[in-house]
Amino acid sequence: MEFAGEVVLVTGSGKGIGKAIATQFAQEGAFVCINDVVREDAERTAEELEKLGTKTLAVQADISKEEGVRNMFDLLFERFGTIDVLVNNAGVGDSLMVEDTTYEMWKKVIDINLNAAFLCCKAVIPVMQKKRHGKIVNIASVAAKKMSYHGGAAYTASKAGLLGLTRHLAYELAPYGINVNAVCPGATLTPLLKMSTSPAQLEAELVRFPMGRFSEAEDIANAVVFLCSTKSRMMVGQAIDVDAGELLAWTDFNSYQKYRKDRLRKFLGQ
Ligand SMILES: NC(=O)c1ccc[n+]([C@@H]2O[C@H](COP(=O)([O-])OP(=O)(O)OC[C@H]3O[C@@H](n4cnc5c(N)ncnc54)[C@H](O)[C@@H]3O)[C@@H](O)[C@H]2O)c1
Repeated sequence: MEFAGEVVLVTGSGKGIGKAIATQFAQEGAFVCINDVVREDAERTAEELEKLGTKTLAVQADISKEEGVRNMFDLLFERFGTIDVLVNNAGVGDSLMVEDTTYEMWKKVIDINLNAAFLCCKAVIPVMQKKRHGKIVNIASVAAKKMSYHGGAAYTASKAGLLGLTRHLAYELAPYGINVNAVCPGATLTPLLKMSTSPAQLEAELVRFPMGRFSEAEDIANAVVFLCSTKSRMMVGQAIDVDAGELLAWTDFNSYQKYRKDRLRKFLGQ
């Protein structure tokens, strides 16, 4: 088991992508700290993962607050004494353009999606530097590289900022044997997406994905676990897209295929 006895913290892991990431680490023998702002979700997930035969710790904390982060790490270090892997996963969406976004909404999204990752990194850096070992993975989004399809301006800005933090920290911490990377999910079938979008809307959206399907939470978890494994030991500052080809497209896939066929017909004089 690749992560036997290693200590892993996944923020926002009570459900969705975070839960899938925490589950894969637990299956690989890691001791996993499950954080979520929703206590019941954190506790339920921790209970489920204990059944896999590993140790878990559920911590309810709002990690957009300095105090929440401090309390979470106090509990984590008290229980496990160290940390090997930090996955900054907790995130919220918004769906507004700049002109409709109040400063309060803007700050809320930036606090959860970007500032919380900064605070968690600050907490683990001294421990990882001392061990000269550690992995940090930030869960950004394809929105960081283009702009958000479901979300809004604050979301796009927060995720682009997270990639900036990833690159800077990667450079800063590489000499200590600490790998910092990011994963950029495209639309992923989590409870959040299923709740906010009707089955008909989801079906209609598939034209944006050359692979013709949405990613599942496990697809994102696979990339995270890879980035924390020895197989990726020379990778630093990367932002890996797991997006069914969404970012590759000029337009929706069906229109593009039609355009190509029309061009070919013209070329052949048909
Ligand atoms: N689902 C997608 O299509 C998609 C696409 C791109 C990126 N992402 C990113 O992946 C990550 C996980 O998304 P998801 O789809 O699983 O969402 P989700 O809403 O299912 O899960 C996010 C979890 O984070 C928790 N959380 C929110 N604010 C928190 C806070 N302040 N402190 C602690 N926990 C908090 C929530 O309670 C929730 O359990 C997010 O960063 C999101 O931006 C998701």
